[in-house]
Amino acid sequence: MMIRASDLRKEFQDRPRSTRVVAVDDVSFDIAAGEIVGLLGPNGAGKTTTMQMLTTLARPTSGSAEVAGFDLAAQSRLVRRAIGYVSQRGSASSESRAGEELVDYGMLHGLTRADALTGARALADRYGLTDLWERGVGTLSGGQRRRLDIAMSLVHAPRLVFLDEPTVGLDPASRAGLWAHVRELRDTAGMTVLLSTHYLDEADALCDRLLVISKGRLIADGPPSKIKRMMGPDTLIVSVPSEPEVARLIPLLREATGEEPTASGVEVSVRFAGGAGALAGILNAAHDASLPVASVELRPPSLDEAFIALTTEEKAA
Ligand SMILES: Nc1ncnc2c1ncn2[C@@H]1O[C@H](COP(=O)(O)OP(=O)(O)OP(=O)(O)O)[C@@H](O)[C@H]1O
Ligand SMILES: [Mg+2]
Repeated sequence: MMIRASDLRKEFQDRPRSTRVVAVDDVSFDIAAGEIVGLLGPNGAGKTTTMQMLTTLARPTSGSAEVAGFDLAAQSRLVRRAIGYVSQRGSASSESRAGEELVDYGMLHGLTRADALTGARALADRYGLTDLWERGVGTLSGGQRRRLDIAMSLVHAPRLVFLDEPTVGLDPASRAGLWAHVRELRDTAGMTVLLSTHYLDEADALCDRLLVISKGRLIADGPPSKIKRMMGPDTLIVSVPSEPEVARLIPLLREATGEEPTASGVEVSVRFAGGAGALAGILNAAHDASLPVASVELRPPSLDEAFIALTTEEKAA
């Protein structure tokens, strides 16, 4: 296992009112080498705090973890050496030049100057930073700076990288570039990735597995397809050739599914738990009623829908 987190907990004392905030509430999970895992959850769910604990930047209130083969508490220096981290707020300091920053960061992680320079140049090329090599970090645009942060997290070729909302502020080409690079590093070097994101299309496209946290607790763990299924039924969308048939289609679908259909133009949608197999029954019923059907689509819930359902259920509980 590349990460083994056991009952990780972080409480903050909110001083003025002296209330206790449980940011991470006894969370346990394992991440295998070579996995790309997405950490999802609403604002304040505990994603950043979880990453800060696993990267040694915040001390857990209780619980323990093994990260990259080292004990988080007892071997924190070795953990720091083995990992890369892009923080949500960014970390590049503003006085140095972009290229220097990248090389220095590699050397800080034990690379020789020559190796750091080679790695830095390759990453600068990859992340569109070559022309910005001599630029002061403080003069970079938001997205350029984000790309520098990402390059810094990778310059020492870590086995494990933590990316906290890495694609916020990136243009579409840079975002696609990061996805491709992350996959490539996993495929060629077996790199393991834990990333947080609010972009569910990103989680769906990039991650092998998702951990959903809400109010500091882990509420779902599985591949994107499983998380989507947890949302429940698919939506069946049936369209008819013209408006008058809609009035006949609605009661037919209501009868067949026990759910209330909604119409929009010549399209009628209804929650449909039966799966593809039960579709034939509905088509037969339409045929028996001499109701012409123009098209039928069975749409699985989107990850957005699944996520909202999961985390709002949790809020209500
Ligand atoms: N230093 C702190 N002192 C007090 N409370 C804190 C501190 N840091 C975080 N928290 C609280 O802990 C909870 C979890 O915060 P965290 O930053 O981990 O959330 P997140 O999931 O990363 O959210 P976001 O999507 O907004 O980045 C929040 O309620 C936050 O207000
Ligand atoms: Mg955060």
